[in-house]
Amino acid sequence: MRIKIEKVNEVSVDNGECWSGMTRHPSHRHPIKILIFNYEGGYRAIRAHCPHQGLDMEGCGVDDEGYVTCPKHGLMLDVNADEHGLSVERDDSGFYMVS
Ligand code: FES
Repeated sequence: MRIKIEKVNEVSVDNGECWSGMTRHPSHRHPIKILIFNYEGGYRAIRAHCPHQGLDMEGCGVDDEGYVTCPKHGLMLDVNADEHGLSVERDDSGFYMVS
């Protein structure tokens, strides 16, 4: 399945490239905000809101190990793990969440 990511905006981060966007996920009725990272030559995404207490992590970069660290309490989210990470593809027409 390939789902278009809408309202994509480039986000400034300390290292690497990042974008925010909105997408629909089959398990959610409403669009969710995600953060897309260019990581190791591909694209991975996580939900923008921390699963702990919901802080919007826009502006947090991904480290060399593939983790995004929430600045509020330090929860580390692995962009490569199925638990938090989402697969993303990019082509000339934009970004897509794939499953
Ligand atoms: S809100 Fe992100 S670690 Fe607590």
